[in-house]
Amino acid sequence: MSKKTQEKESGSETNGSPKPTSPNADLKLDFSSFWDYSAAPESSDFIDLKKEYHHYIGGKFVKPKKGRMMKTVNPATEEVIAEFAEGTSEDVNNAVKAARKAYDKTWGKLNGRERGKYIFRLARMIQERSRELAIVESMDGGKPIRESRDVDVPLAAAHFFYYAGWADKLDYAFPGRKAKPLGVCGQIIPWNFPLLMLAWKIAPALATGNTVVLKPAETTPLTALIFAEICNDAGLPDGVVNIVTGAGLTGASIVDHPDVNKIAFTGSTEVGKIIQKALAGTDKKFTLELGGKGPNIVFEDAPLDQTVEGIINAIFFNQGHVCCAGSRLLVQEGIADRLISKLKDRMDTLMVGDPLDKNTDVGAINSKAQFQKINEYLEIGVKEGASMYQSNGSLPQKGYFCRPTIFTDVGQSNRIVQEEIFGPVLTIQTFRTPAEAVDKANNTPYGLAGGVWTDKGSKIFKISQKMQSGVVWANTYNKFDPTSPFGGYKESGVGREGGLQGLYPYVNLD
Ligand code: NAI
Ligand code: MG
Repeated sequence: MSKKTQEKESGSETNGSPKPTSPNADLKLDFSSFWDYSAAPESSDFIDLKKEYHHYIGGKFVKPKKGRMMKTVNPATEEVIAEFAEGTSEDVNNAVKAARKAYDKTWGKLNGRERGKYIFRLARMIQERSRELAIVESMDGGKPIRESRDVDVPLAAAHFFYYAGWADKLDYAFPGRKAKPLGVCGQIIPWNFPLLMLAWKIAPALATGNTVVLKPAETTPLTALIFAEICNDAGLPDGVVNIVTGAGLTGASIVDHPDVNKIAFTGSTEVGKIIQKALAGTDKKFTLELGGKGPNIVFEDAPLDQTVEGIINAIFFNQGHVCCAGSRLLVQEGIADRLISKLKDRMDTLMVGDPLDKNTDVGAINSKAQFQKINEYLEIGVKEGASMYQSNGSLPQKGYFCRPTIFTDVGQSNRIVQEEIFGPVLTIQTFRTPAEAVDKANNTPYGLAGGVWTDKGSKIFKISQKMQSGVVWANTYNKFDPTSPFGGYKESGVGREGGLQGLYPYVNLD
């Protein structure tokens, strides 16, 4: 309990007034000062970041001859924490050559059982280095250590374990058919779940017998480079996994390389469209996992307190840098006022701050560019006439931090309702009938994920079937599992990752 609250209580005793007798008399809690925690920082003392990182090509870390170095920043401190190479088309070409050689000479010739052993080993070694990976993920990208430690890293390991299990069972995955690998896969990943997206991409590719060239995002390259060390330590044959760092141009070189057989991309819809155009007319396979504007629908019969927790998790998890975030709340009219009031109270208890503090709920915005983009949307929302409410806790002086924010009084055509903000910003609309909820839910260019909250199972089935979403969570949100497929409709992308379905994009079936 904070000092302020204690003072309030003792104050009421010293001036002689009796303590409130009714349990409801003092119900209005002061959320801005009630919850106070001592700092509980995770130690990063033993993290030994290199000053400079190089590409991992053909089983070696190679210093590029040409091309400049780029800097990666800790968004919570705004300090440069390491430099890494910007991959040129020559680096990409070397990586593709190494991947092709490994495909032809080693990996492509191994049977599924042997491949599985290597992938199981990668999974175990991620677990062994999990503390280091979690800390570096939080330092490089700004997400709270609680999330990188409890979600990102364990799920990344789980993906390798899951797909390791498929490696020698592909005949059962595709009964009566023969699954053949595609060859070399080019994979480009974003900055919101750096290690986890690497796992989503690399695990199924290796399990099915492909080799890969992967490019991490330019603001978060470090855990992919630690993963390269893990590949080395695991004795993975040279060239099976190649990591080339860099930004958009490096990514484009991978997409355009003639000897790449498949492109797997996760990122913005804008870049997804560029990639789709570049691939048109080629025989490269592709999967695109793009943006979203997830509707989270709350019916009057939903259990309110659990729903508030779910709404918080849906939009403030990972600072809202989540393609499937529940960023559009649709509330049935009769409970809207009560729900919003409870939501505001809960928002005020969220701790925004040092990503390495174990108490932190909302960490740093990933980069300066994303921070500016979110702030622009806050201005747009206000200009569009919406009412903005932001949580009132304190923010650190340095670093890119954004208060959890909700907008009410918004219309369906508002930009903040239609466009992906990719930050801790929720819009709230009301509806009267289930049909209106579905209409509003589906009325965006996206279709990645959504949620339904109700006490009635039949309503869950009826509504979720009408939602144009790759994933619909019922009475929960942002639950991930390697066995479960994930992917979008409309401008949210094509193809599925995860589960048995996640094997299809990496094989040709005879
Ligand atoms: P982005 O789409 O530019 O970056 C994602 C990845 O693609 C990065 O590795 C980047 O280097 C690479 N890339 C960029 N241009 C490329 C090109 N022409 N060819 C090949 N690869 C290329 O995303 P950005 O600019 O970092 O974020 C902008 C917005 O995109 C965010 O505000 C958010 O709305 C959305 N986004 C969505 C993500 C998702 O998971 N669906 C992830 C990241 C961003
Ligand atoms: Mg960084």
